[in-house]
Amino acid sequence: MGNHSMTKFDLLIETHQGLKRQGPGSPEMTLRALSFISHLDEHSRIADLGCGTGGQTMLLAQNTAGFITGVDLIPDFIDVFQDQVKELHLENRVTGMVGSAEDLPFEKDELDLIWSEGMIDGIGFEKGLTYWSRFLKKGGYVALTCPAWLTDEYPPAVKKFWEDAGSSLDAIGNHISIMQKIGYRLVAAFTLPDVCWTENYFLPRAEAEKNLLKKYAGNPIVSDYVKEDQYETDLYAKYHQSYGYVFYIGKKVS
Ligand SMILES: C[S@@+](CC[C@H](N)C(=O)[O-])C[C@H]1O[C@@H](n2cnc3c(N)ncnc32)[C@H](O)[C@@H]1O
Repeated sequence: MGNHSMTKFDLLIETHQGLKRQGPGSPEMTLRALSFISHLDEHSRIADLGCGTGGQTMLLAQNTAGFITGVDLIPDFIDVFQDQVKELHLENRVTGMVGSAEDLPFEKDELDLIWSEGMIDGIGFEKGLTYWSRFLKKGGYVALTCPAWLTDEYPPAVKKFWEDAGSSLDAIGNHISIMQKIGYRLVAAFTLPDVCWTENYFLPRAEAEKNLLKKYAGNPIVSDYVKEDQYETDLYAKYHQSYGYVFYIGKKVS
C-alpha cells in the first residue's frame, strides 16, 4: 500500500487484525454472559454479529454445542476468523462470513442465540435489536455489549467523542426499557470491568500502533490516527467512572 493512498480505515484494519479482540471485552466476561444461557444443544443455531477476528466466537464454540455463524463487515477480519476455525478444527460447526448485521441472511425464527460484542451502538440499540429479533426463536436469547452511561454524569467530552465516532451512549435503564419493549425478559445486565478496556484492549492496541509508527515513520496520517486512539485511551482513564460497556442478556418472550 502506498503511503499516500492510505486511509484511517486501512490503519484500523492493520492495527486490529492481529489483536485477540477488536474492542473492550475478555474471555471471563464472555463466559460469564454465557453462564446465563442454558438451553443450547447440538442443534442450536447461534449468530455472532460484528464478530471481528472471532476472539469471543471461538470461545463460544468451545463452550457450546451447535452451529455458529460469525458476521462482520471487514473481509480481513473474517480471513483471520477462518484461519482460527481451521486451527481449532471447528470447520463442521463454525463459519465466518463477510456481511452486514443490518442485512442478515438468516430465516425468520431460525436462531437460538444472537451474540454481539461491541457493535450494536453503531447501528443504534433499538434499531439493531428490533431488526435482529425477527431471526430469533421465541425462547431464544440475545447477549450483547453496548456502551452506556454508568452514572448520571454525562461528561460532554465523552458524549462528543462517541457521537463523532458515529455512536452514542444511553442510560442503562433506557437500554433495558428498549429490550423489554421489543419483547425481551431481562435475564442479566453487568458492567465490564476496567481491565477489559485497559489491559485487554488499549494496551495491545498501543503496542500494535508503536509498530505502525515505526513502519510508516513520518507519515502524518499515521501519527494523526495514533493520536486519536491515544485521546480515546486518555478519555477513558479520566472518565471511566461515568461510562463503560454493559453486557445485556435477554430472553425473547413475545
Ligand atoms: C468493536 S469491534 C468488536 C469485535 C468483536 N466482537 C470483539 O468484541 O472483539 C466491532 C466489530 O463490528 C464490525 N461491524 C461494525 N458494523 C457492522 C455491521 N453493520 N455489520 C457487521 N459488522 C459490523 C466491525 O467491523 C468490527 O469488527
